[in-house]
Amino acid sequence: MPSLITGLYPNRRLRRNRAHDFSRRMVAEHNLTVNDLIYPVFIVEGNNITQPITSMPNVNRMSIDVLLKEAEQIAKLGIPVLSLFPAIESEKKSLLAQESYNKNGLVPKAVRALKKEFPELGILTDVALDPYTTHGQDGIIDEQGYVQNDISVETLVKQALMQAEAGVDIIAPSDMMDGRIGAIRHELEKHGFVNTQIMAYSAKYASCFYGPFRDAVGSAKNIKGGNKKTYQLDPANSNEALQEIYQDLSEGADMVMVKPGMPYLDIVQRVKETFAVPTFAYQVSGEYAMLTAAIQNGWLNEKSAIMESLLCFKRAGADGVLTYFAKQVAEWLHQQ
Ligand code: PBG
Repeated sequence: MPSLITGLYPNRRLRRNRAHDFSRRMVAEHNLTVNDLIYPVFIVEGNNITQPITSMPNVNRMSIDVLLKEAEQIAKLGIPVLSLFPAIESEKKSLLAQESYNKNGLVPKAVRALKKEFPELGILTDVALDPYTTHGQDGIIDEQGYVQNDISVETLVKQALMQAEAGVDIIAPSDMMDGRIGAIRHELEKHGFVNTQIMAYSAKYASCFYGPFRDAVGSAKNIKGGNKKTYQLDPANSNEALQEIYQDLSEGADMVMVKPGMPYLDIVQRVKETFAVPTFAYQVSGEYAMLTAAIQNGWLNEKSAIMESLLCFKRAGADGVLTYFAKQVAEWLHQQ
């Protein structure tokens, strides 16, 4: 129908390409595949243990034997990488986080078991001290509770080397100390780990959306000072995130990460456009909790909400997403 004002037919109908499913698929600019997923899992000591996490429905802490069964499914689904987060017993936590570089600790044991059974499955481990400190901060504190940079880096370097020795493929420092990527890279090179990748949590914000994760690893109650604002980024800033990314790349990071995910897609886009490097994003525990709560209440459709949320990461420029939904999403993608 011609326009009532101009008397003309529209010369361009943008809806034409949207009219049929084949056409919508043909013009789609982005899509989500199994290769875009990284699956985070929580591990605990023991045998045959599956512990639910209240603030993260359907996510469990699991012992290594259970983890191996889970990993078999993950490998079968074609998810490229599994990322490990330990919940450490409180007796093993200390001010100096010595357990973080224990060669016989939970993480290296899990890594060795996984690499033995599933050598092709990529394994990523977090480098940070919060699961191992009595106070739940990511580094070593002074009497005032301030997280000391350079001493913390020394411990993080030990932790990273121990992880590389256990056979980890990707080391992911999530501590936000200055200079840690360079220090870790140097140590890895010195010990011949030239192909151990580093995925730097470069743009990691001091976010409230990590709350459920801190429950999962048992660091929430402990956090002295209640927040991590003296090292994690201020949610008000975006230029500063680019400086962090620049710094980590120049110190030897192979890939970078933005975290949290959904409220920070503008950062993902700026990072990708500015640096054109492999860029990942973390759909964190609080995002998982928000979506899951709405889904459980029947307020959002499960599959549509989850799939849309992940596709949007791709549109923003992410090469992949760490998401607690990874396994479910891989199953859906295979059904299509
Ligand atoms: C620890 C770490 C955190 C997360 C990943 N690694 C928590 C924090 O910084 O307090 C959060 C992940 C999530 O919320 O899903 N350095």
